[in-house]
Amino acid sequence: MADVKILVLVGSLRAASLNRQLAEVAAESAPAGVSLQLFDRLGELPFYNEDVDGEGVAEPVQALRLAAEEADAALVVTPEYNGSIPGVLKNAIDWLSRPFGNGALKGKPLAVVGTALGQYGGVWGHDETRKSFGIAGPRVIEDVKLSVPAKVFDGKHPRENADVVQQVREVVEKLVAEVS
Ligand SMILES: Cc1cc2nc3c(=O)[nH]c(=O)nc-3n(C[C@H](O)[C@H](O)[C@H](O)COP(=O)(O)O)c2cc1C
Repeated sequence: MADVKILVLVGSLRAASLNRQLAEVAAESAPAGVSLQLFDRLGELPFYNEDVDGEGVAEPVQALRLAAEEADAALVVTPEYNGSIPGVLKNAIDWLSRPFGNGALKGKPLAVVGTALGQYGGVWGHDETRKSFGIAGPRVIEDVKLSVPAKVFDGKHPRENADVVQQVREVVEKLVAEVS
C-alpha cells in the first residue's frame, strides 16, 4: 500500500492537553509508511457561518479543508466537555461537513478516541463525536473505541503507560486497515 496519511484533530486547545499527548503517542506508534499529521489550528477557525462559507472563506478553514483533502483517514482525539463534544471540535466538524454532501473527509475512515477526567474517560463525548462526524460525511469506524479515564496516567505522559500505548497502537492499525 502507498504511504498512508492520517489527519489528527485534537478537541482541546490547552497547552498541556492530555488528549494532545495521547495524539503524540499515536504519532509515535504509527507503523512504517503511515504518517499522522496534527492540524493544530482549530482555535483559529471562525464560528461556522453559512454567509461566509464558499469562495474566499477564511484562510484557516481553507487550511483545514486542504489538510482533510490530502488525508486518507482521520483520527480524532478529544476530551468530553459537559457530557458532549468540545465546542472547538464541533465547529471544525461543521466546517468539514460543507460543501453539503461533498466535505473533504467524505467517505474516509475516521476513528474517535480520547481521555477525560471522569470515570468513563469521556465516553459520552466520544459517542456524540462519532454521531456528529457520521452525519458530516466521513465513514466513522464504530468499533474502534478508546476512552481512557485520565487517572490511569497518574500525572505522567500517556507514553509512560504501556497498556495505553498498546491500545493506541491498535487503534492506529485498525484505522489504517480501513484505508482502501
Ligand atoms: C468546560 C469543561 C467541561 C468538562 N466536562 C467534562 C465532562 O463532561 N466529563 C469529563 O469526564 N470531564 C470533563 N471535563 C474535564 C476534562 O475531562 C479534563 O479537563 C481533561 O483533562 C480535558 O482534556 P485535555 O487534558 O486534553 O485538555 C471538563 C473540562 C472542562 C474545561
